[in-house]
Amino acid sequence: MPKLLIEGGHTLSGVINVSGAKNSVVAMIPASILCDTNAKIYNVPNISDTNDLIDIINMLGCKSNFTDNTLIIDTKNVKNEVITSSYSSKLRASYYFMGALLGKYRHVELYLPGGCQIGARPIDIHLDSFEKMGVKITKEGDKFILDAKKLVGNELNLRFPSVGATINIMLAAVKATGKTTINNAAKEPEIINIADFLNSMGARITGAGTSQIEIEGVDFLDNGKISIIPDRIEAGTYLIAGSLIGKNLTINNLCSADLSALISKLREVGVNMEIHETSITVTSPKVLLPINVKTLVYPGFVTDLGQPMQALLTKCKGISLFEETIYENRMQHIKYLQKMGAKIELNNNIALFKGPVNLKGTNVTATDLRAGATLVIAALIAKGTTKIDGIKHILRGYDSLPRKLDSVGAKITLVE
Ligand code: UD1
Repeated sequence: MPKLLIEGGHTLSGVINVSGAKNSVVAMIPASILCDTNAKIYNVPNISDTNDLIDIINMLGCKSNFTDNTLIIDTKNVKNEVITSSYSSKLRASYYFMGALLGKYRHVELYLPGGCQIGARPIDIHLDSFEKMGVKITKEGDKFILDAKKLVGNELNLRFPSVGATINIMLAAVKATGKTTINNAAKEPEIINIADFLNSMGARITGAGTSQIEIEGVDFLDNGKISIIPDRIEAGTYLIAGSLIGKNLTINNLCSADLSALISKLREVGVNMEIHETSITVTSPKVLLPINVKTLVYPGFVTDLGQPMQALLTKCKGISLFEETIYENRMQHIKYLQKMGAKIELNNNIALFKGPVNLKGTNVTATDLRAGATLVIAALIAKGTTKIDGIKHILRGYDSLPRKLDSVGAKITLVE
């Protein structure tokens, strides 16, 4: 099992280039099969989620070429195969094949999706919405069978602005008969990116990025072309690291506008930042001020940066409060931060941090993707060496993390 060894205490200086967004590419690849002959996706991050999804489209009959962050997909021979758990259990985003295959074939057979164990992660909003579009859903053990004699547009009122459900509905609705309206839609930047990709194929989607999205179904989709937006979670992770141990650390190829909630929290902490449209240069202040952070739907503080932000709270002077409101089981990293010396009182999804403390290197385990990122940041600021197990989670979502951190001065080694 690969591990990361990180010797803490080394200042980070120089430039880190942010890769394409994991949360976009995981929907783009399933979306590509809606094309009749081909799709091209640029700025694709080289992460294991990308490769796991390429395996699924290849299994469905696509021919794909992934070189230099460009993914070219020949979709001429796509077939509607059952997606078995050996494929779908590797990542949660395999559920986007529900929407994509419904749109293309009106029929899907897929085993329950996998992904990080950060909560119950129900998909009721996806399934209720499909049913309202005429889909009959049956479950045989872990297998979902979705079948629509006719897939028809409808007005859908989401009980919560789920990113996954909003995207899955768009994937099905682009080829449904008539108009679909999604009310209380998720507004994340990734939704706009995916709508742009579908529109490049000939879909008719308006309102992406607002809470009401309208989709007029069309008969044919082809020649999809898109560049993946910068990964705001990856950018935020490095910005947090730079806030703790950076000296003129520039995070490049990002979109500052997508990071406004994080930027305003880092300002409250007293972090020095030079902010441009596509880059931010960060230097750690002498004293970090305590803050309160609560995760919320976009444009609020994103749940995926909640865990990494907690590494920073261990160094804020005084009491900081953190509350996770999106997922119910996203605090598994706390015991490892405590093992490293952090003073944290955890009460369900609220954590109280007393700082600043000097963290010490020890053996820890990444239990999920962002827990892993949190432990990497903690290790970068800790005294001594930290050994992080469970690296496969980190490699699911961070392109070349060891190389990028090494290039700005971290002492980090990936041990196979
Ligand atoms: C979530 C974040 C998103 C972020 C992404 C990064 C929110 C609302 N979503 O999206 O901003 O970019 O992580 O990984 O902050 N839910 C249901 N039923 C459903 C679908 C979802 O109850 O059918 C619940 C989930 O269990 C969860 C919440 O809604 O508690 C958010 O789900 P969703 O937005 O779909 O999650 P992600 O796509 O992971």
